[in-house]
Amino acid sequence: MPTISLSFWERNRPILFHPQSRCFIRQSQDQLKQHAAQAALSYIAPKLERKSVVGVGTGSTANYFIDELAKIKHTFDAAVASSEETHRRLTAHGITVVDLNAAPQLDVYVDGADEIDKSCSMIKGGGAALTREKIVASAADEFVCIADSSKLVNQLGAFPLPIEVIPMARSLVARALVALGGHPIWREGVTTDNGNLILDVHGFAIDQPLNLERQINDIAGVVCNGIFAQQAANVAFLASDSGVTVLNPLQQG
Ligand code: 5RP
Repeated sequence: MPTISLSFWERNRPILFHPQSRCFIRQSQDQLKQHAAQAALSYIAPKLERKSVVGVGTGSTANYFIDELAKIKHTFDAAVASSEETHRRLTAHGITVVDLNAAPQLDVYVDGADEIDKSCSMIKGGGAALTREKIVASAADEFVCIADSSKLVNQLGAFPLPIEVIPMARSLVARALVALGGHPIWREGVTTDNGNLILDVHGFAIDQPLNLERQINDIAGVVCNGIFAQQAANVAFLASDSGVTVLNPLQQG
């Protein structure tokens, strides 16, 4: 068992050194993700009925949500998964998973984000699941985003924008993205659940998310891009050391 030693403190958080992986660990990041997941569960639980179907995202924050969802699995009908990984975790918890084609309507979709702005537009796809995430989200009545508060930004774009691409179009799409002002990097060694590739685009200052989302979708060979502006969240639960903040753009006016 490796020894994890306390190395230093940063903004009241213990930063630990993990010798085996030779990296520093922000001890409370996972706790914050769990708090956001718990807040989302408290928010959706009263809305669920026996026939309800819940869409479930992908990633470490979504995993915490799945663990919470398992506690109320007898109160709703089934879940739709946004990735093979999520499908496996849901099933392991004994939650019934149905194909999207068999689900007439999804009450809610809950997922994490790589970045989110105050209007609840997001960058997603750090886990390469963006296409299925966008599909499942689009089928739901409500999108609930869960994240630790470090994901909240004034403007999207510091996180490299993931784009799922048909393999034969990789270079073609990359050149089109350069023409739009980005610097695409092929995420080598990664194949999506749909058998495609990911380009991570650096250098986009995304001041008009919806426009850029549409522009990138227009490039032949692009399957999906990680801007979720058309599919923005309806509400976001962002956990920090001082509690969980709720972002609700419609109520903010
Ligand atoms: C996966 C995603 C995730 O929601 C995003 O990468 C956030 O992940 P995490 O919850 O692990 O920080 O879009 O494709």
